[in-house]
Amino acid sequence: MSEREQWSSKLGFILAAAGSAIGLGAIWKFPYIAGQNGGGAFFLLFILFTLLLGLPLLLAEFVIGRTAQDNAVQAYKKIAPGTNWHWVGVLGMITSFVLLSFYAVIGGWILIYLFKAISGQLDGLTSEEFAVVFSNTIADPLLSVGFQLIFMLLTIIVVSRGIQKGIESASRFMMPALFLLFIILVIRAVTLEGALEGIQFILQPDFSKVTSQTLLEAMGQSFFTLSVGVSVMVTYSSYLPKNQSLPHAAVSIVSMNIFIVLLAGLAIFPAVFAYDLEPNAGPVLLFNVLPTVFNQLPFGMLFFIAFLILFLFAALTSAFSLLEIIISVISNGKPEHRIKWSWIIGLAIFILGVPSALSFGILSDVQIFGKSIFDFADYTVSNVLLPFGALLISIFVPLKMKRSLLYSEIKKGNWIKKGIFDAWYFTIRFIAPPLIILVMMDVLGIW
Ligand code: TRP
Repeated sequence: MSEREQWSSKLGFILAAAGSAIGLGAIWKFPYIAGQNGGGAFFLLFILFTLLLGLPLLLAEFVIGRTAQDNAVQAYKKIAPGTNWHWVGVLGMITSFVLLSFYAVIGGWILIYLFKAISGQLDGLTSEEFAVVFSNTIADPLLSVGFQLIFMLLTIIVVSRGIQKGIESASRFMMPALFLLFIILVIRAVTLEGALEGIQFILQPDFSKVTSQTLLEAMGQSFFTLSVGVSVMVTYSSYLPKNQSLPHAAVSIVSMNIFIVLLAGLAIFPAVFAYDLEPNAGPVLLFNVLPTVFNQLPFGMLFFIAFLILFLFAALTSAFSLLEIIISVISNGKPEHRIKWSWIIGLAIFILGVPSALSFGILSDVQIFGKSIFDFADYTVSNVLLPFGALLISIFVPLKMKRSLLYSEIKKGNWIKKGIFDAWYFTIRFIAPPLIILVMMDVLGIW
């Protein structure tokens, strides 16, 4: 999208922002992190953090973007000229860079499965056989890196052409289709024999399993799924016309996200328990469980292929947003450089991601602070960089933007009660910063 082009409709913006938000975070990451953190209690904490921090911060990013009408770095320069606040945008670019590097690895896995499913290599396998086929595949350096590259190429091609037209028109039917397929999947999963234990696992909180680490993971997960903390949403909302309501957009995106997370939990865990699989299997969880559930449906492989296509689309729309934020800053004012920079940055991100891809195979013995390369990259982004970016944004807004200006920006396009604005302002100013700091102390080992 060239600078200052606008979304063609409010729906277009919501779809693109929701497309950035809904992706691997809700569908792939949530189930395995929840599985490693005890299930129900984690889910509840995730919802609490999403409502208490994620939603207000999403709105804060929207307000920054639409007030400044500029990219993630320029926006801070415009609002707070002559200060160092634009480093928040730079931090966001760096975070996006690292995030996309390992995101593309999982995007590649989807492509691998899609390829295998279409070529009939998955027909009639049992759940153990799926797990073996899958772990062999991702351990293969050529395959995993090759498909990671294909995923990045798709992202680069779309971003280099400008994202608007493509995303807007495709999202219109892809997103609803994804919801629909998920609902079918959930109905099948919860009616499996032995499903009840899985439903209880994800819906019944067991607080004895909650530690400071669980809080950190739940907070990081809520920022990750909402694309908050790296100024992606600043960039997207800067293309939004002034007459659209920001709170309305934020609430729609948050509700869609919680709904998808719930569907993902209800599709995965009943099956995990029904088939005696391990809820804490890590990043491979979804990929091991899903084909088994689909196999229980009539025309299961066709449904599986449809699901993978929609899942791929959800992952790509998120990937676009991550590359877009970087490119919109670098090609600022020179749209003719967009293509060149999309390729340079996109390929650099691919290279950074190669060790993550290999950490499921030939580099699986390499450990950084006791984690695999992939887990380390993900942990640093989700539990350090995103919360830190979110913290800075929550300090920036009340410090550098006038309360009256915030109010007038937030109430545009829709009448909102003053009380709601006051509650948002209070949360951003007095709750978000101390709470984020408190939860982040876990990283420093203070707890
Ligand atoms: N939210 C996306 C997901 O859940 C990932 C993502 C895209 C993201 N853009 C982001 C996460 C910006 C953090 C910040 O899959």
